[in-house]
Amino acid sequence: MITTHQLAHWKQEGRAIVAVTAWDFAIAQILDQAGADLILVGDSLAMVALGHQTTLPVTLDEMLHHARAVQRGVQRALLVCDLPFLSYQESPQQALHSAGRALKEAGMQAVKLEGGHPAAIETVARIVQAGIPVMGHVGLTPQSVHRLGYRQQGKTPEAGERILQEAIALEQAGVFSIVLEHIPGDLALQITRKLTIPTIGIGAGPHCDGQVLVTADLLGLSTRQPPFARVYTNLREIITQAVQQYGTEVREGRFPAE
Ligand code: KIV
Repeated sequence: MITTHQLAHWKQEGRAIVAVTAWDFAIAQILDQAGADLILVGDSLAMVALGHQTTLPVTLDEMLHHARAVQRGVQRALLVCDLPFLSYQESPQQALHSAGRALKEAGMQAVKLEGGHPAAIETVARIVQAGIPVMGHVGLTPQSVHRLGYRQQGKTPEAGERILQEAIALEQAGVFSIVLEHIPGDLALQITRKLTIPTIGIGAGPHCDGQVLVTADLLGLSTRQPPFARVYTNLREIITQAVQQYGTEVREGRFPAE
């Protein structure tokens, strides 16, 4: 099983880290066997698996239900679970309790939470102190969609400097890695050079230590993708054709055979 320490070595060696999201057993098993290094049970599952408009409605219990299924499919990749909206913002104690549940009840190895403001830093430090690895997430933070929208962050020098300082504070608080979402590539490069922990980019250019994509986007399962996603295959089309063919064969009496 890949560990958080392994990721740190890979940064030093310049080996890129491949991260993807998962929400169920079958997808997780395929991703793991295909060689993903890090599998994130991302709260984007609220949108891609549960049909919500944003990530906000998903609960910790729902996340853990999906995380348990993912865990049963994974043998190699590092398993990280997102802490969903309002499962960690109330207090460091609440955050520690939620993070602990991800490890105890779903077999996760680490948790991820959004933000690099002082309250988030205190929260990260409390969880890390309890021995739980934490991944940070700065730039576009989807749980703040009603404040930030889905716009690129860090475009002005001041905004870029704020994100850089947040990343530094998160590293000092003990995160083992940071997701940089939808920020300019030169800012991501600057952060990646400054930090000793690996950065994992999504919409942050090619100079991060690794990349993460929402698997439903990568596979063409989602109906809308963010501008920075790359669609590697169109499973919607492939599934539609398969089901249409099955329907035709049933209706024409060609399936099942005698
Ligand atoms: O929830 C998620 O899928 C994420 C990725 C975008 C990194 O946080």
